Amino acid sequence: MVLGGSTVEALRIGMLGFGTVGRGVADLLLNHQELLSQRAGMPLRLVRIATRTPERDRGLSLGGVELTGDVNRVVNASDLDVVVELIGGFIPARDLVHRALESGKHVITANKALIAEYGSELFALAQSKGVQLGFEASVAGAVPVVKALRESLAGNRVDLVYGILNGTCNYILTEMREKGLPFAQVLSDAQDKGFAEADPSFDVDGIDAAHKLAILAAIAFGTHLDFARIVKEGIRHVSDTDIAWAKEMGYRIKLLAMARLKEGLLELAVRPVMVPESSMVAAVEGVSNAVFMHGDYAGTTMYHGRGAGERPTASAVVADLMDLARDLRVGSTGRIPALSVPVHHLRTLPIRTASQRQGTFYLRLAVTDRPGVLAEITAILARHAISLDAIHQKGRSRVEAVPLVMVTHETTEERIAMALVEIEQLDSVREPPRSIRIESGLA
Ligand code: HSE
Repeated sequence: MVLGGSTVEALRIGMLGFGTVGRGVADLLLNHQELLSQRAGMPLRLVRIATRTPERDRGLSLGGVELTGDVNRVVNASDLDVVVELIGGFIPARDLVHRALESGKHVITANKALIAEYGSELFALAQSKGVQLGFEASVAGAVPVVKALRESLAGNRVDLVYGILNGTCNYILTEMREKGLPFAQVLSDAQDKGFAEADPSFDVDGIDAAHKLAILAAIAFGTHLDFARIVKEGIRHVSDTDIAWAKEMGYRIKLLAMARLKEGLLELAVRPVMVPESSMVAAVEGVSNAVFMHGDYAGTTMYHGRGAGERPTASAVVADLMDLARDLRVGSTGRIPALSVPVHHLRTLPIRTASQRQGTFYLRLAVTDRPGVLAEITAILARHAISLDAIHQKGRSRVEAVPLVMVTHETTEERIAMALVEIEQLDSVREPPRSIRIESGLA
């Protein structure tokens, strides 16, 4: 086919990395060859894969696909149109993506860390080279959230994006609630079953979800990628006691990623929150991901599905390849800016500080059971202008600490933090106090 003076007969694909997702992409491209070709108007041809283990049998019949141990055979190749980066991490992925873009090749990646932390330089480079950098697979796997936010909601002013972006944490919290087990035990079971990484810190400390949130926020608000300014709190401190209290009060605890633009101030946070049991976000269970977006004309829309795994992630990678093939077919590369607006229009917005971040909070203390303890604690809360909505105390014990749970009225994160520092100093308070934000207004 000849369009705009260029001849495009097939999309020639090179792949970097042949792990779980790479296997899924190769399998899909080979399995659905005819379907993809019909839909794209040209064949999607997997030409070459660079992997550290070219000799390993992946149980796929790869036909004429070349396997190489040399990444240069992909990055420097002149017989490829697009490089699919599925190595993950920063080294060597960042350098290889740079080199592929520099050489005028399009790039598609599932690498959320790379996009969240180095996206600004990579999108600028891609734009200057007139090539595309696709990253649908980097957020929520198969769930088409990048495309929905950037394209389907393109006519809206979006003020709120939130969701469950880490399947490992959601699985752990679901298991803790359903089985009444502590975090450490569920994590170790999940590692045994292969649901959690041997080093789970990226997942359980909220880093992985924050990478994905940085990407969604940049698209939603046309801002530079802002991973560093995201408030990040993981789920290590969520105890089975907190989960039981949440249940009793009609809530579920979820690791929620949220980006909100209100009165010109941006709030970016990944943290465990309590959501009403009856909300849709509470119903997202197990390894599922879900994203909710609110636009001024669309209202709230919701996207739900598998956020990780071989086939779901491959589905998203191939969606980007299809977009690219369809664009090349009509000579329209660069039609859709990666982050909604061209790179030079991206802005930086002021962030909402802890003294401006308002909300209601669940507070849990372990206290000595004697007269006057409650008065000491409420005196500190009163000094910080924190008003209480409810207090629960259970059990009696002369020797052991008893739980004291309070729910506040609207206050700020800063006031809660300052009050808890003082409360922790009291002789009657036997463990570090815990606080969890309550989000009652979500879909
Ligand atoms: N480890 C992530 C999760 C998937 O548990 O959702 C890849 O981002």
